[in-house]
Amino acid sequence: MQTPRRALVTGAARGIGRAIADALVRDGCDVAVVDRAFHGESDAALERAAAPGRRTWRQVADVRSAGEVAQTVEAVAAQWGGIDILVNNAGIARDQVIWKMTDEQWHDVVETNLTGTFHCCRAVLPLMRKGGWGAIVNVSSINGLRGKFGQTNYAAAKAGIIGLTKSLAKEAARFNITVNAVAPGFIDTAITQAMPEEARREALQEVLLGRPGRVEDVAEAVAFLCSDRARFITGEVMRVDGGQYI
Ligand code: NAI
Repeated sequence: MQTPRRALVTGAARGIGRAIADALVRDGCDVAVVDRAFHGESDAALERAAAPGRRTWRQVADVRSAGEVAQTVEAVAAQWGGIDILVNNAGIARDQVIWKMTDEQWHDVVETNLTGTFHCCRAVLPLMRKGGWGAIVNVSSINGLRGKFGQTNYAAAKAGIIGLTKSLAKEAARFNITVNAVAPGFIDTAITQAMPEEARREALQEVLLGRPGRVEDVAEAVAFLCSDRARFITGEVMRVDGGQYI
């Protein structure tokens, strides 16, 4: 049997990140679950993850902090000897039209979604280089491709992730590291449950397949991009949106 791949997933205490962690465990990976807050629902996820022979790791860290990210990556690598898979999923939205947007709303969203992704990629890259294999998947959004009313901060951060993904794909290919992004549409999670009812209805009307996405829909795409089946795919942005974008 192949040695399990060692994965680190950010924002994995709940929602899409938790589903990604579960899918990677199912696919035979050891998974480090990193989040700034464990919302009281993560124990079940970790219990599921702790299948016989699988190692899991749970770490509180804020991806906005370069220091906390570096410490987390060092700790996981010290325990497991390396990291092969990184999924940058941690993200927040703080919607507001730009003329009312506070500095805090702007910086929170850009620092979590975009700078957090940078911190994690930078910290993990040397380990992947050393291991001679790597897969990075960054969670963007269709709103990073098309923009959205009330989301200048979020769309800018998610578009930034796409630029980062393509640039890093170019830098990392020589080390056998692939770098891809997924761009989910309307997925049923805490983020979308917090939207006003009218906005939820409008978003849902755009989805060709006529339903909100499930966290598993995104997790399956991410798990594929992390697998050996996707080794000739890099610099790609895969929409997982039920046709919402087109
Ligand atoms: P969620 O709010 O359910 O989960 C996000 C997780 O990230 C939470 O556990 C939270 O504690 C964690 N997190 C937030 N800031 C963090 C930080 N600074 N450091 C570490 N962890 C942090 O959200 P959801 O919906 O599961 O979103 C996951 C990702 O998918 C996000 O990047 C989001 O922008 C993206 N996305 C979600 C869509 C949706 O419709 N739900 C659509 C497109 C993209």
